[in-house]
Amino acid sequence: MDKFIINGGKKLIGEVQISGAKNAVLPIMAACILKPATYTIKNVPNLKDTRTMIKLLEESGANVKFDNNILVVDSTQCNNPVAPYDLVKTMRASFYMLGPFIARFGKSTVSLPGGCAWGPRPVDFHIKALKQMGAHVELKEGNILCSGNLKGAEIIFEKKSVGATGNIIMAAVGAEGETIISNASCEPEIEDLCTFISLLGVNIEGIGTDLLKINSSTDSIVKKVDYSIIPDRIEAATFMILAAITNGDIILRNVNINHLDIVISKLKRAGVRIEIVNTNSLRISNSANLSSVDVETREYPGFPTDIQAQWMSLMCLATGTSTIKENIYSDRFTHVAELNRFGADIKVEGDTAHINGVNSFRAAPVMSTDIRASASLILAALSSEGESSISRIYHIDRGYENIERKIAALGGDIKRKK
Ligand code: EPZ
Repeated sequence: MDKFIINGGKKLIGEVQISGAKNAVLPIMAACILKPATYTIKNVPNLKDTRTMIKLLEESGANVKFDNNILVVDSTQCNNPVAPYDLVKTMRASFYMLGPFIARFGKSTVSLPGGCAWGPRPVDFHIKALKQMGAHVELKEGNILCSGNLKGAEIIFEKKSVGATGNIIMAAVGAEGETIISNASCEPEIEDLCTFISLLGVNIEGIGTDLLKINSSTDSIVKKVDYSIIPDRIEAATFMILAAITNGDIILRNVNINHLDIVISKLKRAGVRIEIVNTNSLRISNSANLSSVDVETREYPGFPTDIQAQWMSLMCLATGTSTIKENIYSDRFTHVAELNRFGADIKVEGDTAHINGVNSFRAAPVMSTDIRASASLILAALSSEGESSISRIYHIDRGYENIERKIAALGGDIKRKK
């Protein structure tokens, strides 16, 4: 298994181009199944997860080309509504195939996604909503078997769920009549999915809000669809924190600053200087003396859970004490033990991490457990004097495109070791 060798302690300076959003492109790739057409999608990040999604599309019978961050999906020949376990077990987002398969084919076989490092990740909201739309759903040998002609229904999610919102929006495209989704997720990635689906002749009201009305005129025929994915706000926030934690000076290009409000305000509260260069670039500098700032993770537009680990790395070096309350997942704190190996002083009590700021990290060998925990360890290693190693970095390759190349271009000393 690959690992990163990092010699930290340097200020990172320069410019970084942010890639397209992983969590937008994955459901949008699944949505290419909804209507038989040729889809040309730009700004697609070259990640392990996007390559897994390509395999799932090819498994269904689609023809896919991917080069230079441009994806071309021809779904006219799709004929196999099956997402097999060997692919689904490597990426939970494979579950996004469920909605499009049942919408287009009236049946769907998708393996149940496994859990992950921070506990079970159920799909009960997805199943309950599909049943409300008239689908017959059963669990057989680890697969969810779904069938039936869907009818529009009024779906009320008891808790906001990005995946369930995306799946039901896509299922609604194949349903007869109107589907109303209350308490829908408002993440920019779901907004991007809705904008994409609107190009298929589907009428969606309330895009970007938590109340969506979807009407699909079945006679809408599309042949060709062109689209470009929004920038990845989680990658952007990760590089903003990288600039702050190394007291560097970095300009981020290709960001959507409207998706970064809460991260910008929290970083400013911590004493970081942020200049909005224009609507799609910003500059982070002057982070010599960091102040402790408490955060609680919330659904969008609240503080993103996918930035929680990276924020924790930063707060470890801030003056004073801070707390991080994780409200989305039961125990997304597997990075705490690893950060403490760098000399951090973090204690977890239930859903809250208590952080006492220290002067500096000390280089150490550590292990990553998920995409965002890996990012938090890279941030800590780059701000530690000396040589650190980070194992199991296949996690980071799932969610960050060319991360060591981007960091090296900023002056970071990071090498991948087979
Ligand atoms: C998406 O996961 C993201 N992944 C996650 O990012 C992100 O952490 C998460 O949303 C929350 O923002 C993708 O978009 C591919 P949820 P998802 O359904 O859809 C519970 C990353 O690093 N729940 O919004 O799986 C669930 O257990 C990844 O890029 C149910 O109980 O998350 C969790 O506690 C990590 N039943 C909460 O809801 C359900 O049927 C939010 O989960 C579904 C979810």
